Amino acid sequence: MADILRFDKFRLDLQDDEGRRFNLLDDISFSLPDGKALGIVGESGCGKSITSLAVMRLLPQAAKVAGGSVSLRGENLLEKTEAEMHDIRGKDVAMIFQDPLTCLNPVLTIGFQIGEAIKRHNPRASAEEIKERTLSLLKRVGIPTPEKRIRNYPHQFSGGMRQRTMIAMAIACSPGLLIADEATTALDVTIQAQVLDLMIRLKEGGSFMFITHNLGIVAEVCDEVTVMYAGQIVEAGTVEEVFLHPAHPYTKGLLLALPTLTSLGKKLYNIPGVVPTVQNFTPGCRYAPRCEYAKPVCSERKPARCVLNDSHHVACYLYEEVMA
Ligand SMILES: Nc1ncnc2c1ncn2[C@@H]1O[C@H](COP(=O)(O)OP(=O)(O)O)[C@@H](O)[C@H]1O
Ligand code: SF4
Ligand SMILES: [Mg+2]
Repeated sequence: MADILRFDKFRLDLQDDEGRRFNLLDDISFSLPDGKALGIVGESGCGKSITSLAVMRLLPQAAKVAGGSVSLRGENLLEKTEAEMHDIRGKDVAMIFQDPLTCLNPVLTIGFQIGEAIKRHNPRASAEEIKERTLSLLKRVGIPTPEKRIRNYPHQFSGGMRQRTMIAMAIACSPGLLIADEATTALDVTIQAQVLDLMIRLKEGGSFMFITHNLGIVAEVCDEVTVMYAGQIVEAGTVEEVFLHPAHPYTKGLLLALPTLTSLGKKLYNIPGVVPTVQNFTPGCRYAPRCEYAKPVCSERKPARCVLNDSHHVACYLYEEVMA
């Protein structure tokens, strides 16, 4: 199966106000086969959002690409002009963010904003065609009475409906790749389940990249998973491999921290410590300061990627001990 998205040794530094550079993304390599759903997981601050913004070429100013490639259907996006990226965004790849309120314009109607998303890549569509497509999109994402709702403003929509609107805008031009970055995190649990369900239905045929700190979501909606810690990929594989046979201490910690039915009422496990900021990354394995398995070698040299099988990889000196 061909890959729709491929990161190859992608490196990215963050530059501070004094012009000093710190490496954040360290040789990020992974691929997403066409039609599959890939989850990118890790705690807050691990570099998940920056990784997805690299695909859209919407990186913050402080972010400086330092090497490697990010290819969509074999074409390196890092070599595209801004005009070419303008064509690619929305048509080939679209993104759903966590907070629809910051993405929707409060003074424009929902119908107008979805219409604009359609028009961007269909400039010759008539007003009638755009209205029809807007109504059909609102229906597809489960907004009741779309004929009335297209005249509403974002503040007249609930949080769940606003997120459905964002999904409608993202799928407006049928992009081959959809990226959802913590797209359900701000919603309450029931609405989260409904919006997730909607995304699973809309996924049929397309490729998805789900970015989340919530491993439960990944288990539900993804085929494959990549675990990131402090800008490095520490483990990757199919959801089954990584969840049932975690090989990296960080993955194991994330899984232990997941609430389960049997853990109800008990104190949940927490990985000790916090994700360091980029200025405080340690040489070698960046997880070493928090790792209960750590040996002196871990902080001296970065562990190489060990291939467990065709799909399951881990970067840890002691993975055999972790898996035992
Ligand atoms: N606009 C920005 N300017 C400078 N640093 C940033 C910016 N956005 C994110 N960072 C830093 O990059 C690191 C990774 O952030 P991010 O990709 O948002 O992580 P995640 O999505 O996994 O929570 C963090 O240390 C964060 O402080
Ligand atoms: S390489 Fe060492 S410090 Fe890093 S995760 Fe493995 S055991 Fe822990
Ligand atoms: Mg993020």
